[in-house]
Amino acid sequence: MTNTALITGASSGIGLELAKIHASKGDNLVIVARRKDLLIGLKTELETNCDVDVLVVVADLSKPKVPEKIYKLMEKKKIKIKYLINNAGFGDYGEFHKGDLKLYQDMIEVNVSALTKLTRLFLPDLIKTEGKILNVASVAGFISGPFHAVYYATKAYVVSLTESLSVELKKTKVTATVLCPGLTRTEFHGAAGISEPLYSVSMSAEDVAKQGYSAMMNGKTIQVTGFINKVFLLFAKFLPTMWVANSVQTGMRLLTRKDD
Ligand SMILES: NC(=O)c1ccc[n+]([C@@H]2O[C@H](COP(=O)([O-])OP(=O)(O)OC[C@H]3O[C@@H](n4cnc5c(N)ncnc54)[C@H](OP(=O)(O)O)[C@@H]3O)[C@@H](O)[C@H]2O)c1
Repeated sequence: MTNTALITGASSGIGLELAKIHASKGDNLVIVARRKDLLIGLKTELETNCDVDVLVVVADLSKPKVPEKIYKLMEKKKIKIKYLINNAGFGDYGEFHKGDLKLYQDMIEVNVSALTKLTRLFLPDLIKTEGKILNVASVAGFISGPFHAVYYATKAYVVSLTESLSVELKKTKVTATVLCPGLTRTEFHGAAGISEPLYSVSMSAEDVAKQGYSAMMNGKTIQVTGFINKVFLLFAKFLPTMWVANSVQTGMRLLTRKDD
């Protein structure tokens, strides 16, 4: 397998679209997620339409030992990963003190720990193959999010880690990119128990993936998707942090029609 990309969370949404883009270049894939049927369906589609090899890895990234198992599987199968795309992630909605502690642990494990472990495990090889890293964070990584407190905190970690890596890696040919989407039409909101984003203020997963993939290929460090999100973050930089945090709740309610 050459120019192989490993994409976590490829069974739906942004990860699935990233997989389609990569396969359309004629390059092979390792796709990771829990839902085997969706991964097998994607493998069949990509192998038929794009003449590529796709390896399906059914794995639950909330289990702490899974990243190491994935790395060892690649070693065993002698698959050299050139593009590491840490996309898997999920969120929730509700008052922090009423939330399920196990859910928070799983969220931190998937959004933060698995991403960190996979990056650390694959990076020495990526340095040799002059590869690239794409970490999927969110606009949420730059602000605080009441009622999504843990999710926003996990995404702040992803932004910070990737920015640091991007600087550290300057002496190598590896680049680290962080993709920061705003509201995107995927299964994310349903899985988090929140209403779908309004069509007018959200982006398609395909457009988000296109921007992220292109940023990764160009070695860009931060890719915020969409004009509205860029303008929002520009304003947020100059406004008092707590004013922004207070506004997030109102904004999310308006943009997703959440009734609580
Ligand atoms: N949609 C948005 O508005 C939005 C905005 C900003 C950032 N993001 C970020 O974009 C990324 C992709 O999300 P999406 O919007 O495309 O949502 P999505 O359609 O729900 O996709 C999430 C992906 O993550 C995988 N995943 C979740 N938990 C997992 C686990 N324990 N183990 C392995 N895989 C797991 C899911 O696969 P399985 O369920 O099959 O395991 C799925 O493939 C996430 O990191 C999310 O935080 C989304």
